[in-house]
Order: sequence, then structure tokens, then C-alpha cells
Amino acid sequence: MLWEPPVGVVVAEVVIVGGESEAGELVAMSIRALIEAKPNAVLGLATGSTPLPVYSALARSLAEEPLDVSQVHGFALDEYVGLPEGHPESYRAVITREVVGPLGLTPENIHVPNGATDTIQTAGADYEQAIAEAGGIDIQILGIGRTGHLGFNEPGSSFASTTRIKTLAEKTRVDNARFFDSPESVPMHCITQGLGTILRARHLVLLAFGEAKAGAIAAAVEGSISASQPGSAIQLHPHVTVLVDEAAASALTNLAYYRYAWANKPAWQAI
Ligand code: GLP
Repeated sequence: MLWEPPVGVVVAEVVIVGGESEAGELVAMSIRALIEAKPNAVLGLATGSTPLPVYSALARSLAEEPLDVSQVHGFALDEYVGLPEGHPESYRAVITREVVGPLGLTPENIHVPNGATDTIQTAGADYEQAIAEAGGIDIQILGIGRTGHLGFNEPGSSFASTTRIKTLAEKTRVDNARFFDSPESVPMHCITQGLGTILRARHLVLLAFGEAKAGAIAAAVEGSISASQPGSAIQLHPHVTVLVDEAAASALTNLAYYRYAWANKPAWQAI
């Protein structure tokens, strides 16, 4: 078998939130509860704009009511290949700036795939080994690209893929040009956790806000399972929480049921 589902909670739900801050609060509270129950919890960290409300809500909560996070581990989803060390838009720098600092995590516990070209041949296998040695990822935060990518798994990525080099889609380079001088200065290659890696995490939390993500969300949640829509891999996972605002939810057909199920969610059941 190429992929075995994680054992544990079985819940797949779509939560339509009033806005980004509501989503951030919900996910932050879930991460907080995880760390309280498991002080050495392993967090799967996403970059991009989407997860920022989660990190800021968690930072606020930790400031108001401190919790020992010194043993928490973190694994980033992806990294650009070939950026000079310390480049401010490398995902190592972004994770350090937006997550490690504000949450007060232990820097040595935070892993980012190594995008250095001289070690790139072994970087994927090394990353998989580091995840396994940490005991696997407990909660994986995910955004989704307009191409439908999770991490940097562009359409066509195998559902069994592990951490490896990918070529960024043109659309992704255009989208990420806002962090660089131009689309041409966005690296052509990246190293990303595979869809198989992501599916091994124990809980997937996919967030999306805004109309630009509506198509990718509909394909991920309700479309056919297909390598052409990497986001649809989430349908294979037993514990998925999708948090979307009204705009990102606008192309979903089963909206009434998602609202109804959330309104009638069993009191004992966490997200
Ligand atoms: C980026 C990242 C993804 C992210 C996605 C969406 O390029 N590699 O992990 O989910 O694209 O980004 P944003 O949240 O900024 O829309």
C-alpha cells in the first residue's frame, strides 16, 4: 500500500466563517488544546498570507495566557530552491519572522526543507526522515494556491509523492511575484512536502479566503479526486477541517449541509 491513513479521529467538515480572524481564532484554539495535551506536538506550518490570522491569534493567546511551547516542533511545507541563505523571502526567513518569533518557539525545533542547490539531491529524503524522527505531524495547516496546489504540489503531482523538487507553475510565479521584484525573480524550482507526506499528517486544516480561491476550494472539497486538482487529495484523509469565508465558499454546492452540520456539531467534538 502506498499510503496508510493516520489512525485516530474521523471527521471531515467544512466550516464557513465570518472572516479571517474567526478562522484564526478557531484554529489557534485547536493548536493550543493540542499543545496542552501533548507538549511536544508537531505542527505542520504553511507560508503565504492565508495562515497569518492563525499565527497571530495563537501569539495573542500565548501572550495572554502563557503555555510552555519549548518542546513544540514545526515543519514547514515547502521552500524555494536556490535563494541565497538569509534571503528575506525564503520560507525559512518567513517562518522565523512570522511564526517562530511571535510564538516563542525553539528555533532548533523548527525545520524547513533545505533549498540549497549543493545538497538538493538528498534534501527530500532528509526531510522525510526528520518528520518521521519527530513522530509525524500532528496538525498540518494548509493554504491553497489558485492552481489548486497544496504546499507547492502543482497539478499533476502524485498523491503518493514525498518531499522533492518541483517546478513552479507560471500562475504560481505570477502570484508570488508580490514578494519579489517581478515574476522572473521568483525561483523556478522549489522543494515541497509531497501530497503523500501531507496525507500522513494526523489532522489537516485547510484555510482559504476570498473569491480568487473559490474554484480551487470547490475542486478540492467537491471535485473528482484527481492529480490535476492536488487539493482533492484531502478527500482521502480521515480528519480534515476546511475553514472558508463566504467568498471562498461561493462555488460549493453542498453549502446548506455544511452550515447545518456545523450548527448541529456535537458539543464533545473538537474541530
Ligand atoms: C504559496 C505556498 C502555499 C500557499 C499558497 C497560497 O505559494 N507555497 O503553501 O498555501 O501558495 O498562498 P496565499 O495563502 O498567500 O494565497
